[in-house]
Amino acid sequence: MPIDPSKPSTNTNGSPAPSDEYSLTVGADGPVVLHDAHLIDTLAHFNRENIPERKPHAKGSGAFGHLEVTADVSEYTKASFLQKGRETPMLARFSTVAGELGSPDTWRDVRGFSLKFYTDEGNFDMVGNNTPVFFMRDPMKFPHFIRSQKRLPNSGLRSPNMMYDYWSLSPESAHQVAYLMGPRGIPLSYRTMNGYSSHTYSWVNAEGKITWVKYHFISDQGVHNMTADRAKAIVGDHPDIHREDLFNHIADGDYPSWTVKVQLMPYDEAKDYRFNPFDITKVWPHKDYPLHTIGKFTLDRNPENFFAQIEQAAFSPSNTVEGTGLSPDRMLLGRVFAYNDAARNRLGVNYEQLPVNRPTTPTNQYTFDGQMAFEHSGSAPTYAPNSYGRDFATGYRTGSEATWEADGELVRSAQTRHAEDDDFGQAHALVHDVFSDAERDELVDTLVDLMTNFDMEEPVIGNALSYWRNIDAGIAEATEGRI
Ligand code: HEM
Repeated sequence: MPIDPSKPSTNTNGSPAPSDEYSLTVGADGPVVLHDAHLIDTLAHFNRENIPERKPHAKGSGAFGHLEVTADVSEYTKASFLQKGRETPMLARFSTVAGELGSPDTWRDVRGFSLKFYTDEGNFDMVGNNTPVFFMRDPMKFPHFIRSQKRLPNSGLRSPNMMYDYWSLSPESAHQVAYLMGPRGIPLSYRTMNGYSSHTYSWVNAEGKITWVKYHFISDQGVHNMTADRAKAIVGDHPDIHREDLFNHIADGDYPSWTVKVQLMPYDEAKDYRFNPFDITKVWPHKDYPLHTIGKFTLDRNPENFFAQIEQAAFSPSNTVEGTGLSPDRMLLGRVFAYNDAARNRLGVNYEQLPVNRPTTPTNQYTFDGQMAFEHSGSAPTYAPNSYGRDFATGYRTGSEATWEADGELVRSAQTRHAEDDDFGQAHALVHDVFSDAERDELVDTLVDLMTNFDMEEPVIGNALSYWRNIDAGIAEATEGRI
């Protein structure tokens, strides 16, 4: 319920608060008494205002809006919200990865790009980034990677040495690191960056035919970035520059929008494609799989309560709806567990009942009770099978779940290699063929800065130079010449 500032404040039970100015004391100069329930509530509640911050992606900003679909993709997906002409309300949250809740928006880092669509068939979440690739191929490595980007265990300091120690010994990170050290490493604003699913997902049509899909969200504001010098200059006065920018533009009626595009790969082509199409360290070349525009989303409403609507928002790649699904990308499959579990820890087991997370469609689960539950099943049985309706769910028979074929022994191994699988090829193409000369010079400046002005030391500097030699010999040479 919104606060009415014209009314006096109350206790949590709704009765008038005795005072927000004076504690109850024995005489004017005597002790404070324990039965001042209003004081106790005030102090105790204050002590519990913080909830655990997200481990990665703690600092973020968000806004509400809507998605409009403009193309007919019914040949590929039966998802109701993806049919031509449909409009769906949504929430977006953008974030940095490594920084904590109060960290500056301007650190060189990947940006999170989370979208929640409140569709008429349940919530569909797309929890992507502003880069089309990622640092690793196996979920086992994710916590190690995040710890290397956070803070040293002894001093609590951030450490380029630790970051590059991890990266340089993890060749599969090369493509993402090249992206991050390059011109898109510090966006000018959240409005001026693209978003990507990064992973390959699936679409399923009414006949059950599966198509592999990658989503791209192309900023209608254009892609604009900050130079490292500009980022360093701005951080003192405006550590929340990206939050300010997003909030103020929306408040002024200048609504940012993104064109939604997809790349589509026929199901059978995945098996023999020249590299593994479920490898999140790779992009699908547009010449093989062109982009198709399917719609646009616009953000036009700021949060009224940042904590309730943005901090308590919980996104998860497991939130799919009929006609959309996962893929064999093992990173994606690991994430399906990780997000719901993080939300249970951060927000409690009934986090899906919070207004920002709850679907706009009715839910009808068997799971019930638990901390902060406020939805009840009435007299409906809480078990299946039962004689009173709501028997075993049968959605899987009617195609509510997108699946694919898989067979083989249980193994611990790298994913199946395709002819052109490697770690450095696409990273080299990005640095060599996509970056301009000026951008390559700036990349060298960034590497020299990291290797000379922070805590980087041997053997990490040597390893980092070898890593960069594998990505692009010219960049490694130019960097080595200046350190
Ligand atoms: C196996 C790999 C990964 C694991 C285990 C993982 C785990 C997590 C966890 C635990 C959170 C915090 C969630 C919360 O507290 O609500 C998170 C946040 C996030 N992750 Fe990942 N992540 C992985 C890979 C990725 C990838 C590949 C992407 C992008 C393509 C990504 C994008 C995000 C975003 C955007 C958020 C912020 C969500 C929000 O706005 O609330 N993550 N991740």
